[in-house]
Amino acid sequence: MSTTAPAAAAKIKKVTTRSFKKKKQKGEIITMLTAYDYGTAMAVDQAGIDCILVGDSVGMVVLGYETTIPVTMEDMLHHCKAVARGAKRALLIGDMPFMSYQVSTAEAVKNAGRFLQEAGMDAVKLEGGREREECVRRIAEAGIPVMGHLGLTPQSVNQFGGFFPQGMAARSAKRLFEDAHILQDAGCFSLVLESVPSRLAEALSKSLEIPTIGIGAGSGCDGQVLVLHDMLGLFERFTPKFVKRYAELFTAMQQAITNYKEEVENRTFPGLEHTVEMSDEEWAVLQTELEL
Ligand code: KIV
Repeated sequence: MSTTAPAAAAKIKKVTTRSFKKKKQKGEIITMLTAYDYGTAMAVDQAGIDCILVGDSVGMVVLGYETTIPVTMEDMLHHCKAVARGAKRALLIGDMPFMSYQVSTAEAVKNAGRFLQEAGMDAVKLEGGREREECVRRIAEAGIPVMGHLGLTPQSVNQFGGFFPQGMAARSAKRLFEDAHILQDAGCFSLVLESVPSRLAEALSKSLEIPTIGIGAGSGCDGQVLVLHDMLGLFERFTPKFVKRYAELFTAMQQAITNYKEEVENRTFPGLEHTVEMSDEEWAVLQTELEL
């Protein structure tokens, strides 16, 4: 009998940045989700999602921080490595954490390289507009695909004074529009648009050659992304307006844990079917030896 898993046996066609480009040209939608570990990466990958982002949202939904600010390069590389072991098909993007690309361009290129060289990622993502032009250009020139991120960029939460939609006024929307074109010209292969008006995201998606991936940016983007723990109902602290919950796994998990506790306490777990036992002969020998 073969022990090869069906997914491993089948020839897997890896999603690349080229596939992103082709999908946009053909008007096909791009699917993207976050994942942070081996198991969730396997589930997302085997569901046929095009792209997995190992987001710095890991800091909030897995590590319990209030914001993404405390997340470090070492945190990100650790989670990226686990995801790379679980995903075989999806394009893998590592999110550059706060202060890994803002200090100097040289440091940014070096850190971006670590995501590919050490952690098995295919590309990196970073936040910001025109102020990142040089950084994006240099990372892309080093042969590292870069995804941009505009709108509500969580690493700037302190500057925004909270998690608020961006580009709501004509003036800030115009600036965001210009930033998107600057990032495209600097070499980004794709752009995340987070929490921006739907009309702005749609107009921008039409005017850019590179695909836009929306989160809270309406249906006019070239792709959609959600944070896995939000859409699975695994993160209970708050749910942004733009999230649709496709499951209630926190509740399911709590129910399963309560059931386990009850069964252990009333001694119905473990049952015989969950138990190993030695033969009567060996048991008899042992009893004699130990005088039980
Ligand atoms: O960190 C993250 O998960 C993200 C997505 C919200 C796009 O940046």
